[in-house]
Amino acid sequence: MSARLIMKLQLVEKTLEAPDVVSLVFKHPRRPELPQSEAGAHVDVHIPDLGIRQYSLCGGAGGASTYRIAVRREESGRGGSSWIHSSLKVGDIIPVSAPRSNFPLSKAKKHVFIAGGIGITPFLAMASEAGRRGEEFEVHYCVRSRPSAAFVDELSQYCGNRLHLYAPSEGRFDAARLFAALNSRSDIRVYGCGPAKLLEAVETAAEDQGWPSSRLHFERFQAAVDENFVPESFDLTIGSTGQKLHVAKDRSALQVLKENGFNLQASCEVGICGSCRCNYVEGDVLHRDTILSREERVKSLTLCVSRARGSLVLDL
Ligand code: FES
Repeated sequence: MSARLIMKLQLVEKTLEAPDVVSLVFKHPRRPELPQSEAGAHVDVHIPDLGIRQYSLCGGAGGASTYRIAVRREESGRGGSSWIHSSLKVGDIIPVSAPRSNFPLSKAKKHVFIAGGIGITPFLAMASEAGRRGEEFEVHYCVRSRPSAAFVDELSQYCGNRLHLYAPSEGRFDAARLFAALNSRSDIRVYGCGPAKLLEAVETAAEDQGWPSSRLHFERFQAAVDENFVPESFDLTIGSTGQKLHVAKDRSALQVLKENGFNLQASCEVGICGSCRCNYVEGDVLHRDTILSREERVKSLTLCVSRARGSLVLDL
């Protein structure tokens, strides 16, 4: 959990891509190059008084002089997207982190990208990178309507007939049909980004077809909600020193560790970004994030939302 570089970047372009989506291009006011990014990476944008929000980079991978992100206005959100749409102006300077990659493009012969709405953003970079590598790909893009769909022209340019657009009036996306057609070729990877309902449908269809979870990759931008979850207190032990800390039922492990002087990274604090990920040595963890895979959960947890039954020994 090393510290992440935060830069003061200047907004140099703001473009309306669809009725409720703007794209934003940032550059450093003095330096010609920004830190490298990988296709599928995201940055943290620090919104005044509202905290940090994560957005996928939707420009090309590799060295770049600018970062481009896209933001959909969420009327019922926490206010960050409304601030970006209404208050952030070209010329303004705001803190933006160096990119982090939780959603990399795997090595595969073929990539299948499934997006819902603004979930298309990481695939702008990933599809372009797959094409650059000479690997097969297809993009399945579910939208509320054609006029509300951002980046269709841009995607069409490099996807051609590999772009499949689904609007309710023209036929819905059918995950079961897609997986049945893909069969179980071991050199295909499937990626999903979008609303929880779409990703659940993809996960269910994949399971029904016996698709291994190791070849499915998701980027979720909504926290897991389990209304029946009742948090219990638990104890933490710091593996390297034996220090013991108590996490009350209304606190998170992250809050308790920070209060006790641990300089830990955190960003979303709702279990979707992975920046507070920490390894553990022993314990029965109640994983409540939407970012770690089944394999990663065997030795890691997200400190902001995950808890434990009884006690937990951290690799700190
Ligand atoms: S801070 Fe984002 S997952 Fe914990």
